[in-house]
Amino acid sequence: MTRSSNQPLVIGIETSCDELGVAFVRGHELLSDVVASSVAEHARFGGVVPEVASRAHVESLQATLEAARAEAEVTWSDVDAVAVTAGPGLVGALVVGVAAAQGLSLALQRPLYGVNHLAAHVAVDRLVHGDLPQPALALLVSGGHSSLLRVDDVTADVTPLGKTLDDAAGEAFDKVARLLGLPFPGGPAIDAMAREGDPASIDFPRGLLHDEKHRHDFSFSGVKTAVSRWLRAQEQSGHAVSVADVAAAFQESVADVLSVKAIRACRDEGIEHLIVGGGVAANSRLRVMVEERAAEHGIEVRIPPPRLCTDNGAMVASLGAAIVERGLPPSSRVLAADSSLPVTEVLLV
Ligand code: KG4
Ligand code: ZN
Repeated sequence: MTRSSNQPLVIGIETSCDELGVAFVRGHELLSDVVASSVAEHARFGGVVPEVASRAHVESLQATLEAARAEAEVTWSDVDAVAVTAGPGLVGALVVGVAAAQGLSLALQRPLYGVNHLAAHVAVDRLVHGDLPQPALALLVSGGHSSLLRVDDVTADVTPLGKTLDDAAGEAFDKVARLLGLPFPGGPAIDAMAREGDPASIDFPRGLLHDEKHRHDFSFSGVKTAVSRWLRAQEQSGHAVSVADVAAAFQESVADVLSVKAIRACRDEGIEHLIVGGGVAANSRLRVMVEERAAEHGIEVRIPPPRLCTDNGAMVASLGAAIVERGLPPSSRVLAADSSLPVTEVLLV
Protein backbone atom coordinates (compact mmCIF):
# COMPACT_ATOMS: atom_id res chain seq x y z
CA MET A 1 0.00 0.00 0.00
CA THR A 2 1.32 3.45 -0.88
CA ARG A 3 1.26 6.02 1.90
CA SER A 4 -0.77 9.04 0.91
CA SER A 5 1.14 12.28 0.76
CA ASN A 6 1.59 14.95 -1.83
CA GLN A 7 5.30 15.30 -1.09
CA PRO A 8 7.70 13.81 -3.66
CA LEU A 9 9.08 10.36 -2.92
CA VAL A 10 12.89 10.37 -3.06
CA ILE A 11 15.20 7.36 -3.00
CA GLY A 12 18.72 7.98 -1.63
CA ILE A 13 21.71 5.78 -2.42
CA GLU A 14 25.00 6.04 -0.51
CA THR A 15 28.16 4.08 -1.38
CA SER A 16 31.04 6.47 -0.69
CA CYS A 17 32.89 4.21 1.75
CA ASP A 18 32.27 0.79 3.33
CA GLU A 19 28.52 1.17 3.80
CA LEU A 20 25.91 0.67 1.11
CA GLY A 21 22.83 2.59 2.21
CA VAL A 22 19.45 2.84 0.52
CA ALA A 23 16.56 4.86 1.96
CA PHE A 24 13.21 6.31 0.96
CA VAL A 25 12.12 9.74 2.15
CA ARG A 26 8.90 11.64 1.55
CA GLY A 27 9.25 15.27 2.56
CA HIS A 28 10.69 15.01 6.08
CA GLU A 29 9.51 11.49 6.67
CA LEU A 30 11.93 8.58 6.60
CA LEU A 31 10.00 5.62 5.20
CA SER A 32 12.85 3.12 5.19
CA ASP A 33 16.60 3.04 5.72
CA VAL A 34 18.58 -0.11 4.97
CA VAL A 35 22.35 -0.32 5.40
CA ALA A 36 24.52 -3.19 4.17
CA SER A 37 27.87 -2.71 5.83
CA SER A 38 31.04 -4.40 4.64
CA VAL A 39 32.84 -3.34 7.83
CA ALA A 40 33.42 -6.93 8.98
CA GLU A 41 35.32 -7.66 5.76
CA HIS A 42 37.71 -4.76 6.49
CA ALA A 43 38.25 -5.52 10.17
CA ARG A 44 41.21 -7.84 9.66
CA PHE A 45 42.99 -5.12 7.63
CA GLY A 46 42.42 -2.49 10.34
CA GLY A 47 40.93 -0.07 7.83
CA VAL A 48 38.68 0.15 4.79
CA VAL A 49 40.10 -1.57 1.70
CA PRO A 50 38.62 0.27 -1.32
CA GLU A 51 38.46 -2.71 -3.67
CA VAL A 52 36.77 -4.87 -1.03
CA ALA A 53 34.20 -2.12 -0.41
CA SER A 54 33.27 -1.70 -4.10
CA ARG A 55 32.92 -5.43 -4.59
CA ALA A 56 30.73 -5.78 -1.49
CA HIS A 57 28.50 -2.93 -2.75
CA VAL A 58 28.01 -4.66 -6.11
CA GLU A 59 27.12 -7.90 -4.36
CA SER A 60 24.54 -6.44 -1.97
CA LEU A 61 23.08 -3.76 -4.27
CA GLN A 62 20.01 -5.56 -5.63
CA ALA A 63 18.94 -7.04 -2.29
CA THR A 64 19.42 -3.72 -0.46
CA LEU A 65 17.46 -1.71 -3.03
CA GLU A 66 14.63 -4.22 -2.86
CA ALA A 67 14.67 -4.41 0.96
CA ALA A 68 14.43 -0.61 1.28
CA ARG A 69 11.61 -0.44 -1.28
CA ALA A 70 9.63 -3.17 0.48
CA GLU A 71 10.13 -1.62 3.92
CA ALA A 72 8.91 1.75 2.61
CA GLU A 73 5.81 0.02 1.20
CA VAL A 74 6.14 1.76 -2.15
CA THR A 75 6.43 0.56 -5.73
CA TRP A 76 9.25 1.56 -8.06
CA SER A 77 6.85 3.63 -10.14
CA ASP A 78 5.98 5.70 -7.03
CA VAL A 79 9.52 7.13 -7.00
CA ASP A 80 9.64 10.82 -7.97
CA ALA A 81 13.39 11.45 -7.80
CA VAL A 82 16.67 9.55 -7.42
CA ALA A 83 19.45 10.99 -5.22
CA VAL A 84 22.92 9.51 -4.94
CA THR A 85 26.22 10.43 -3.29
CA ALA A 86 28.44 11.73 -6.12
CA GLY A 87 31.42 12.45 -3.83
CA PRO A 88 33.65 12.85 -1.96
CA GLY A 89 34.66 9.28 -1.18
CA LEU A 90 36.39 6.21 -2.58
CA VAL A 91 36.02 6.44 -6.33
CA GLY A 92 35.42 2.73 -6.98
CA ALA A 93 32.78 2.62 -4.25
CA LEU A 94 31.08 5.83 -5.43
CA VAL A 95 30.86 4.53 -9.00
CA VAL A 96 28.72 1.57 -7.89
CA GLY A 97 26.08 3.83 -6.35
CA VAL A 98 26.18 6.37 -9.17
CA ALA A 99 25.76 3.65 -11.82
CA ALA A 100 22.82 2.16 -9.92
CA ALA A 101 21.19 5.58 -9.57
CA GLN A 102 21.72 6.35 -13.25
CA GLY A 103 20.08 3.04 -14.18
CA LEU A 104 17.09 3.71 -11.91
CA SER A 105 16.71 7.27 -13.15
CA LEU A 106 16.74 6.08 -16.75
CA ALA A 107 14.42 3.11 -16.23
CA LEU A 108 11.90 5.09 -14.16
CA GLN A 109 12.32 8.27 -16.22
CA ARG A 110 12.80 10.29 -13.05
CA PRO A 111 15.31 13.10 -12.36
CA LEU A 112 18.74 12.24 -10.95
CA TYR A 113 20.46 14.31 -8.23
CA GLY A 114 24.16 13.67 -7.58
CA VAL A 115 24.79 15.14 -4.13
CA ASN A 116 27.66 15.91 -1.77
CA HIS A 117 28.27 13.38 1.01
CA LEU A 118 29.27 16.05 3.56
CA ALA A 119 26.21 18.22 2.95
CA ALA A 120 24.13 15.03 3.25
CA HIS A 121 25.58 14.38 6.75
CA VAL A 122 24.17 17.80 7.70
CA ALA A 123 20.85 17.42 5.85
CA VAL A 124 19.98 14.14 7.58
CA ASP A 125 18.99 16.16 10.65
CA ARG A 126 15.87 17.42 8.79
CA LEU A 127 14.41 13.96 9.27
CA VAL A 128 14.77 14.20 13.04
CA HIS A 129 14.37 17.85 14.00
CA GLY A 130 12.65 19.37 10.93
CA ASP A 131 13.89 22.08 8.55
CA LEU A 132 17.44 23.18 9.25
CA PRO A 133 17.92 26.55 10.94
CA GLN A 134 19.61 29.09 8.68
CA PRO A 135 22.35 29.96 9.04
CA ALA A 136 23.74 27.01 10.96
CA LEU A 137 27.25 25.94 11.87
CA ALA A 138 28.06 22.29 11.18
CA LEU A 139 30.73 20.20 12.85
CA LEU A 140 31.32 17.21 10.58
CA VAL A 141 33.46 14.48 12.00
CA SER A 142 33.83 11.12 10.30
CA GLY A 143 36.43 8.56 9.28
CA GLY A 144 37.37 10.62 6.26
CA HIS A 145 36.62 14.21 7.25
CA SER A 146 36.72 16.69 10.09
CA SER A 147 35.35 20.07 9.12
CA LEU A 148 33.63 23.14 10.39
CA LEU A 149 31.13 24.47 7.88
CA ARG A 150 28.97 27.55 7.70
CA VAL A 151 25.66 26.38 6.25
CA ASP A 152 23.50 29.21 4.93
CA ASP A 153 21.46 26.80 2.82
CA VAL A 154 22.23 23.08 2.88
CA THR A 155 20.99 22.69 -0.72
CA ALA A 156 23.18 25.39 -2.23
CA ASP A 157 25.30 27.50 0.09
CA VAL A 158 27.90 25.77 2.25
CA THR A 159 31.17 27.51 3.19
CA PRO A 160 34.11 25.62 4.72
CA LEU A 161 35.64 27.46 7.71
CA GLY A 162 38.20 24.86 8.72
CA LYS A 163 39.29 21.26 8.31
CA THR A 164 41.80 18.75 9.57
CA LEU A 165 45.38 19.27 8.51
CA ASP A 166 46.20 15.57 8.88
CA ASP A 167 44.10 12.70 10.25
CA ALA A 168 40.32 12.89 10.42
CA ALA A 169 38.84 12.54 13.91
CA GLY A 170 37.43 9.08 13.15
CA GLU A 171 40.72 8.02 11.63
CA ALA A 172 42.44 8.99 14.90
CA PHE A 173 39.94 6.87 16.85
CA ASP A 174 40.60 3.95 14.47
CA LYS A 175 44.41 4.28 14.71
CA VAL A 176 44.48 4.66 18.50
CA ALA A 177 42.14 1.68 18.85
CA ARG A 178 44.63 -0.33 16.85
CA LEU A 179 47.47 0.75 19.16
CA LEU A 180 45.34 -0.40 22.09
CA GLY A 181 44.51 -3.75 20.49
CA LEU A 182 40.83 -2.82 20.12
CA PRO A 183 38.81 -3.87 17.04
CA PHE A 184 38.03 -1.83 13.92
CA PRO A 185 36.18 0.49 13.65
CA GLY A 186 37.86 2.03 16.65
CA GLY A 187 35.33 4.73 17.54
CA PRO A 188 32.64 2.55 19.07
CA ALA A 189 35.29 0.35 20.76
CA ILE A 190 37.05 3.33 22.38
CA ASP A 191 33.72 4.90 23.34
CA ALA A 192 32.69 1.70 25.16
CA MET A 193 36.11 1.14 26.77
CA ALA A 194 36.33 4.78 27.91
CA ARG A 195 33.28 4.35 30.13
CA GLU A 196 35.43 2.24 32.47
CA GLY A 197 38.39 4.63 32.44
CA ASP A 198 39.48 7.90 34.01
CA PRO A 199 39.69 10.74 31.44
CA ALA A 200 41.94 12.77 33.75
CA SER A 201 44.47 9.95 34.25
CA ILE A 202 46.69 11.11 31.35
CA ASP A 203 46.94 14.61 29.90
CA PHE A 204 47.14 14.06 26.15
CA PRO A 205 47.75 17.12 23.92
CA ARG A 206 44.89 19.17 22.43
CA GLY A 207 45.86 19.69 18.77
CA LEU A 208 45.77 23.31 17.51
CA LEU A 209 43.50 24.35 20.38
CA HIS A 210 45.30 27.64 20.94
CA ASP A 211 46.73 28.14 17.44
CA GLU A 212 45.30 31.42 16.11
CA LYS A 213 46.53 30.78 12.56
CA HIS A 214 44.50 27.57 12.52
CA ARG A 215 41.62 28.82 14.63
CA HIS A 216 39.03 26.64 12.86
CA ASP A 217 41.31 23.81 11.73
CA PHE A 218 42.04 20.49 13.41
CA SER A 219 45.04 18.20 13.81
CA PHE A 220 44.81 14.75 15.34
CA SER A 221 48.11 13.16 14.38
CA GLY A 222 49.80 14.71 17.45
CA VAL A 223 47.50 13.07 19.98
CA LYS A 224 47.81 9.74 18.12
CA THR A 225 51.62 9.98 18.32
CA ALA A 226 51.41 10.99 21.98
CA VAL A 227 49.35 7.88 22.76
CA SER A 228 51.85 5.72 20.88
CA ARG A 229 54.83 7.25 22.77
CA TRP A 230 53.06 6.96 26.10
CA LEU A 231 52.31 3.27 25.50
CA ARG A 232 55.93 2.59 24.51
CA ALA A 233 57.25 4.38 27.58
CA GLN A 234 54.95 2.38 29.85
CA GLU A 235 56.03 -0.83 28.20
CA GLN A 236 59.73 0.02 28.54
CA SER A 237 59.38 0.90 32.19
CA GLY A 238 57.41 -2.28 32.84
CA HIS A 239 54.28 -0.49 34.05
CA ALA A 240 50.90 -2.09 33.42
CA VAL A 241 48.70 -0.15 31.00
CA SER A 242 45.03 0.53 31.71
CA VAL A 243 43.48 0.43 28.24
CA ALA A 244 40.33 2.00 29.68
CA ASP A 245 42.26 4.98 31.07
CA VAL A 246 44.13 5.56 27.78
CA ALA A 247 40.87 5.29 25.81
CA ALA A 248 39.12 7.75 28.15
CA ALA A 249 42.00 10.26 28.15
CA PHE A 250 42.38 10.12 24.36
CA GLN A 251 38.64 10.51 23.82
CA GLU A 252 38.64 13.44 26.25
CA SER A 253 41.32 15.22 24.21
CA VAL A 254 39.46 14.78 20.90
CA ALA A 255 36.03 15.69 22.32
CA ASP A 256 37.52 18.73 24.08
CA VAL A 257 39.11 20.12 20.90
CA LEU A 258 36.07 19.42 18.73
CA SER A 259 33.57 20.97 21.13
CA VAL A 260 35.66 24.05 21.94
CA LYS A 261 36.34 24.77 18.27
CA ALA A 262 32.72 24.21 17.21
CA ILE A 263 31.40 26.65 19.80
CA ARG A 264 34.17 29.12 19.02
CA ALA A 265 33.24 29.05 15.31
CA CYS A 266 29.55 29.64 16.17
CA ARG A 267 30.50 32.67 18.24
CA ASP A 268 32.90 34.05 15.60
CA GLU A 269 30.20 33.75 12.93
CA GLY A 270 27.40 35.00 15.18
CA ILE A 271 25.48 31.73 14.62
CA GLU A 272 23.18 30.31 17.28
CA HIS A 273 22.59 26.84 15.82
CA LEU A 274 25.10 24.00 15.75
CA ILE A 275 24.55 20.73 13.90
CA VAL A 276 26.93 17.86 14.58
CA GLY A 277 27.17 15.02 12.06
CA GLY A 278 29.35 12.18 10.77
CA GLY A 279 30.29 8.91 12.42
CA VAL A 280 32.21 10.50 15.31
CA ALA A 281 29.05 12.45 16.26
CA ALA A 282 27.90 9.10 17.64
CA ASN A 283 30.56 9.48 20.37
CA SER A 284 28.87 9.67 23.76
CA ARG A 285 31.46 11.96 25.37
CA LEU A 286 31.48 14.38 22.41
CA ARG A 287 27.68 14.60 22.50
CA VAL A 288 27.69 15.53 26.21
CA MET A 289 30.58 18.02 25.91
CA VAL A 290 29.04 19.81 22.92
CA GLU A 291 25.68 20.10 24.69
CA GLU A 292 27.30 21.44 27.88
CA ARG A 293 29.46 24.03 26.13
CA ALA A 294 26.69 25.14 23.79
CA ALA A 295 24.34 25.67 26.73
CA GLU A 296 26.90 27.99 28.36
CA HIS A 297 26.70 30.25 25.28
CA GLY A 298 22.99 29.98 24.46
CA ILE A 299 23.68 27.93 21.34
CA GLU A 300 21.09 25.39 20.24
CA VAL A 301 22.55 22.00 19.28
CA ARG A 302 21.09 19.43 16.92
CA ILE A 303 22.70 15.99 16.79
CA PRO A 304 20.92 13.18 14.95
CA PRO A 305 20.67 9.81 16.74
CA PRO A 306 23.85 7.69 16.36
CA ARG A 307 22.31 5.47 13.65
CA LEU A 308 21.86 8.51 11.39
CA CYS A 309 25.33 9.92 12.19
CA THR A 310 27.19 7.07 10.48
CA ASP A 311 26.89 6.64 6.69
CA ASN A 312 23.42 5.73 5.44
CA GLY A 313 21.00 6.28 2.57
CA ALA A 314 18.67 8.45 4.67
CA MET A 315 21.12 11.36 4.61
CA VAL A 316 21.25 11.27 0.81
CA ALA A 317 17.49 10.95 0.43
CA SER A 318 17.02 13.79 2.92
CA LEU A 319 19.33 16.13 1.02
CA GLY A 320 17.70 15.01 -2.25
CA ALA A 321 14.25 15.81 -0.84
CA ALA A 322 15.42 19.27 0.29
CA ILE A 323 16.83 19.94 -3.20
CA VAL A 324 13.65 18.76 -4.92
CA GLU A 325 11.62 20.95 -2.53
CA ARG A 326 13.75 23.93 -3.54
CA GLY A 327 13.04 23.19 -7.22
CA LEU A 328 16.73 23.08 -8.20
CA PRO A 329 17.51 21.58 -11.63
CA PRO A 330 18.65 17.93 -11.56
CA SER A 331 22.13 16.67 -12.39
CA SER A 332 23.02 15.35 -15.81
CA ARG A 333 22.17 11.67 -16.17
CA VAL A 334 25.76 11.08 -17.23
CA LEU A 335 27.22 12.66 -14.09
CA ALA A 336 30.60 11.31 -13.01
CA ALA A 337 31.48 10.44 -9.43
CA ASP A 338 34.07 12.86 -8.02
CA SER A 339 36.22 11.41 -5.25
CA SER A 340 37.37 14.87 -4.12
CA LEU A 341 34.14 16.81 -4.62
CA PRO A 342 34.47 20.07 -2.64
CA VAL A 343 31.78 20.75 -0.03
CA THR A 344 30.89 23.98 -1.82
CA GLU A 345 29.43 21.81 -4.60
CA VAL A 346 26.30 20.47 -2.91
CA LEU A 347 24.64 19.34 -6.14
CA LEU A 348 26.57 18.16 -9.17
CA VAL A 349 25.38 19.63 -12.46
O1 KG4 B 1 30.54 8.86 8.83
P1 KG4 B 1 31.15 7.51 8.90
O2 KG4 B 1 30.24 6.31 9.10
O3 KG4 B 1 31.97 7.17 7.59
C1 KG4 B 1 32.79 8.11 6.96
O4 KG4 B 1 32.24 8.89 6.14
O5 KG4 B 1 33.99 8.09 7.29
O6 KG4 B 1 32.26 7.55 10.04
C2 KG4 B 1 33.00 6.41 10.41
C3 KG4 B 1 33.95 6.81 11.53
C4 KG4 B 1 34.93 5.71 11.92
O7 KG4 B 1 36.23 6.25 11.95
C5 KG4 B 1 34.47 5.29 13.31
O8 KG4 B 1 35.53 4.87 14.15
C6 KG4 B 1 33.86 6.59 13.83
O9 KG4 B 1 33.21 7.15 12.70
N1 KG4 B 1 32.89 6.35 14.89
C7 KG4 B 1 33.05 6.80 16.15
C8 KG4 B 1 31.96 6.29 16.90
N2 KG4 B 1 31.16 5.57 16.06
C9 KG4 B 1 31.75 5.63 14.82
N3 KG4 B 1 34.03 7.54 16.71
C10 KG4 B 1 33.93 7.81 18.02
N4 KG4 B 1 32.94 7.36 18.80
C11 KG4 B 1 31.93 6.60 18.30
N5 KG4 B 1 30.94 6.17 19.10
ZN1 ZN C 1 30.32 9.90 6.08
